[in-house]
Amino acid sequence: MDPKDEIKQKLDILDLVGEYVTLKPSGSTGFKGLCPFHSEKSPSFHVSQDRQNWHCFGCNEGGDCFSFVMKMEGMTFPEALIHLGKKTGVEVRRLPSTESNTRARLLLIHELAQKFYQKILLESSKAAAARSYVESRGISADLLERFGIGFAPEEWDLLSLFLLKRGFSETEMIQAGLSLKRKQGTGVIDRFRHRLMIPLRDHHGNTVGFTGRSMPGNDQGPKYMNSPETPLYSKSHVLFGLDLAKRVARDTEFIVIVEGNLDVVASHKDGVEQIVASSGTALTQEHLELLKRYTNTIVFAFDADAAGFTAAKKGMSLARALDFDIRAVILPEGIKDPDELVQQFPGVWKELVSHSQPIMQFLITRVTQGKDLHQIDDKRAVAKELIPALSEMNSIVEREHWLQVVADLLQISIDQLRLSLTPQTPAVASAAPAKEVKKVEPFSKEEKARRILFGYLVGSVQAFVTFQHRLLPLLQDQELWIILYNLAKSTYDSGCQTAQYTFFSRIRDLLETHPMKESLQLLLDSSSFMIDQTFQDLPPQKVLEHIENLFLFLERQTQKRDREALARDLRQAEAVGDQETVRRLLEQLNSSP
Ligand code: UTP
Ligand code: MN
Repeated sequence: MDPKDEIKQKLDILDLVGEYVTLKPSGSTGFKGLCPFHSEKSPSFHVSQDRQNWHCFGCNEGGDCFSFVMKMEGMTFPEALIHLGKKTGVEVRRLPSTESNTRARLLLIHELAQKFYQKILLESSKAAAARSYVESRGISADLLERFGIGFAPEEWDLLSLFLLKRGFSETEMIQAGLSLKRKQGTGVIDRFRHRLMIPLRDHHGNTVGFTGRSMPGNDQGPKYMNSPETPLYSKSHVLFGLDLAKRVARDTEFIVIVEGNLDVVASHKDGVEQIVASSGTALTQEHLELLKRYTNTIVFAFDADAAGFTAAKKGMSLARALDFDIRAVILPEGIKDPDELVQQFPGVWKELVSHSQPIMQFLITRVTQGKDLHQIDDKRAVAKELIPALSEMNSIVEREHWLQVVADLLQISIDQLRLSLTPQTPAVASAAPAKEVKKVEPFSKEEKARRILFGYLVGSVQAFVTFQHRLLPLLQDQELWIILYNLAKSTYDSGCQTAQYTFFSRIRDLLETHPMKESLQLLLDSSSFMIDQTFQDLPPQKVLEHIENLFLFLERQTQKRDREALARDLRQAEAVGDQETVRRLLEQLNSSP
């Protein structure tokens, strides 16, 4: 079977879309949620499990599982095919473009390297010290496995030689960031040597790079060495741990952000899995947009001196601009990071995380520490720290709340304080273009009627048989509708089974090779969702009544237009004195209903 069809057979669109969108049942067979492709407050994004398609009435986009991941992940069709193939265990061999070929090779090289390092850590005699280091850090075998952690021994070219044997070229290894050209002579050496190797994975769980933690006693190079930017890995796009965190984050409705990768690993040990690390770089808008797919609430962790606070400030501004609810947890005095906490006091981290506080609360506590608010200088200093955060708050409710708190604290009037807020230039480059609300023209009453009738007719063979002859005259001059009608008719004529939804899917399949595929599919899909919306939960008798009324309405409209056309022709014939035609047209007009 064609991999595309096989994937469609194995994949449930509800599971796929459910990874990105919180869906609620709508009607008896459908689901709906907030559209991930434009911002909206009430759901107009619909998914049908029966038909395995989706449609958004807000931005008039729709399609099947492939178009969904293509749009969502910015993938080309071949990439989507490979991606969904992996998900469903369907082998996709063909790699049509060189671009996706490079990506696929780099993914493969990383997968091999990860397994290579992992096997060394677990089995090699060269990794004895690494194994005791791991143990001393309290990382269990289970966690090593879950994060795919490995070890690069203190040798020059162990990995490079292995990859060469597996058929990868030196150019590919260099491009992957795993090998470096030798400074002298020819050939390559390994980039990572004598380091604990922690795979960096994208949110699908593909290894796209590594971060290498130096071994105790090895002071060559930095404590952490990361993969360079490659066609696969970009540090501003990858959040460590997200592949494991995303589902839990959706369920618990928050995600914790920490600095260190090993803090994430330790956190899992304490049962807190909705956690990611930015791996030592500042949080970017891309990171946050990725997180936004799964949750609206982010929780930052700070030690008692709030050492990481200044570094996190920029990220917080970006997060505010993206309407995140921002919270904080504070580590106990003397504890440097979550890793230390988990190792020393099991269970406390989990407890702290479940009692995070609003970031403003944290900020106020922090900036007022050791300050005397009766002193004007201290007052001014506190105000200076808090005003930017207040200014950035988008939600009026939230801003008014904290304005009041701060005004009370400083003992000034809330109006005075409000005046001192600075107008904000948005921290986010006016939101991603894809998120902008596209104005979709509302359908005319006629167009809507046509859609519902067509959606109804292609919903079952019976409906088509009963009503096909009545629909055709109502489609005059509607090129796309006539094409769809003819496809439906030939599907029917070819003896399509009456099983529910096969009729619809057959027609949809026929569109795959049609030159106007995209507009036709959109029309067909939106019609089918229009049906769901209009008839959800109506008893069959009511549905039939509704259908009858729509037919009557469209028939009247069509007659009206026909008469208008006749009248126009008549005037023309009169104008040129064509008596013969005038007589004929008059006859027609009089006999028309
Ligand atoms: P820390 O120095 O706080 O390290 O740096 P850590 O996470 O506690 O690491 P351990 O527990 O000593 O192993 C915080 C983060 O900054 C990045 C790393 O991602 C690290 O986790 N970093 C740090 C680097 O990228 N390079 C470095 O040389 C140091
Ligand atoms: Mn640490």
